[in-house]
Amino acid sequence: MTPNDHDQIVVAAALLRAGGIVAFPTETVYGLGADASNLSAVRRVFEIKKRPVDHPLIVHFADSSRLHHWAREIPEQAWQLAEYFWPGPLTLILPRSRHVSENVTGGQDTVGLRVPDHPVALALLNALGPEGALAAPSANRFGRLSPTTAAHVREELGDAVDMVLDGGACKVGLESTIVGFNNQTALVLRPGGISLEALEEVLGSKVVATGRKKQAVRVPGSLASHYAPDTPLELWPTESLWRRAIELEAEGLRMAIMTWSGQNPEQPERKNWTHLAMPAEPQVYGSRLYATLRRLDHEHFDRLLIETPPDDPAWIAIADRLQRAASCIPDSEVKIDDCAPSQEDRNINEVV
Ligand code: TXA
Ligand code: MG
Repeated sequence: MTPNDHDQIVVAAALLRAGGIVAFPTETVYGLGADASNLSAVRRVFEIKKRPVDHPLIVHFADSSRLHHWAREIPEQAWQLAEYFWPGPLTLILPRSRHVSENVTGGQDTVGLRVPDHPVALALLNALGPEGALAAPSANRFGRLSPTTAAHVREELGDAVDMVLDGGACKVGLESTIVGFNNQTALVLRPGGISLEALEEVLGSKVVATGRKKQAVRVPGSLASHYAPDTPLELWPTESLWRRAIELEAEGLRMAIMTWSGQNPEQPERKNWTHLAMPAEPQVYGSRLYATLRRLDHEHFDRLLIETPPDDPAWIAIADRLQRAASCIPDSEVKIDDCAPSQEDRNINEVV
């Protein structure tokens, strides 16, 4: 934090106290923050994002030992996770205390809580005082890619926000892991910056991963896409990716092909496609994913072809986001019926 950052924090805190909206960096993605106790500011966040008001916001605060101020009936496991992972990319879903308005939680009796691990976010929260908190979703319009730089926020939200604090590129680059509790069981409601294995290690017990069934190919259907670029995106396993590229090239489509396993040696560069070899290391891939998709969007390809990530626990959050981003494009090999949303899809879409 430089002295200049300090001045900016003072201005940002004053704006928030006056009901303003401030975008701020976290280690995961940029958040769109309102004073959690100011209902008209919270309402503005929903308006700016064009987000349905029954989709709850996460409440961010600075001091993990004050979890009991924001939640009630806190299971021992929640304390263990908070103690170990906060500040960090973990959101806990717990029964809300009376300090959390139901306007923040979309009418639910539970609240998502998180202590972010970023010096600018923590300085801002501390400047709001010990009872201060920011209700903040990711700083993008509903359904779109989360921003991982201040420039992304400005590009997407422009003057709709009162201030954007610039804390550089987010080091995790994917949203937090969301954990809820059912009796004595911890449930991962959204995979993210913290792996299932890391949670299990700290708890010493099994954690249940809810969510989408694994799908190698994501194509047509009527699922609402989320975390999505403008350019239609298809997800293909390594063995069929290049065949699909040749097929689309024959149709005259310009495309970008994003792989983690490198160049297919049998395919020379074609004039209608650009190949982008991403790192095969999931942390690095994850940190660059949204910024890369945004950049590709600017190049106005007809299609983005993405290699399905490895079937490995370390890639679960990346696979989840890519499946949600995948668009629905009819394909002769897949019946439309295969792509109708399952009940499980509907449930999980309600959560994230
Ligand atoms: O990393 C993150 O979590 C980022 C940064 C800014 O903290 N935030 C973020 O917020 O991704 P948002 O609103 O884009 O996604 C949070 C998800 C939402 O899909 C919401 O439905 C879910 O968390 N959520 C929040 N409160 C909840 C609750 N009480 N019950 C179930 N889901 C909840
Ligand atoms: Mg979001």
